[in-house]
Amino acid sequence: MALSGVELLDDTHRLDGFDCGKPALNAWLSGFARTNQARGFTRVLVVHDARAVVGYYGLAPSVIQPNSAPRAVRTGRPPDPIPCLLIGQLAVDRRHAGQGIGSALVRDALRRCIAGADIVGGRAVVVRAIDAEAERYWQSWGFIAARDNPSVLMRSIQDIRLALGDAAH
Ligand SMILES: CC(C)(COP(=O)(O)OP(=O)(O)OC[C@H]1O[C@@H](n2cnc3c(N)ncnc32)[C@H](O)[C@@H]1OP(=O)(O)O)[C@@H](O)C(=O)NCCC(=O)NCCS
Repeated sequence: MALSGVELLDDTHRLDGFDCGKPALNAWLSGFARTNQARGFTRVLVVHDARAVVGYYGLAPSVIQPNSAPRAVRTGRPPDPIPCLLIGQLAVDRRHAGQGIGSALVRDALRRCIAGADIVGGRAVVVRAIDAEAERYWQSWGFIAARDNPSVLMRSIQDIRLALGDAAH
């Protein structure tokens, strides 16, 4: 069965059995994805195989403190806090790893962030890395750690807009 495109999570998607190798991200999908989306805390975008979710990410509006922001994000005299967009979760089932699903999800997330920032503003995309491996993953996408927290990384919308045409991912 061919994989789906990236879709908004709905009641027809199956969440059971998803395993990305990181228990917290498995538990978030089965325990919080539906309710958090229903309550407006986040949007959850999924790729599925015959309705079984094989990859997902969560997207939400967010803010960062100017003192946390690296120079590339903090330029000028930014407001406090700085409005941003957050990719709160990103995970791909281990049985489908290495097939480009993660990259497709990230590109989709970044495009949505640009579209969101075009409508309501937003200086940067912020991500929360679940561990050191995830920090390296986001660094490979050009994200820079917050000054006070290595597991929070960000990249300016401006920079992402320019880079999206890159062949790097
Ligand atoms: C990170 C993750 C989403 C990647 O998904 P995937 O579908 O296997 O990724 P892709 O097939 O698109 O691979 C894209 C590239 O990322 C690279 N990559 C994977 N993990 C990486 C890491 N920790 N650091 C740097 N690069 C990494 C791969 O080597 C691949 O590079 P290549 O195309 O040059 O070979 C997946 O491994 C996962 O769910 N991990 C557990 C959860 C997690 O750590 N999420 C990260 C954000 S919290």
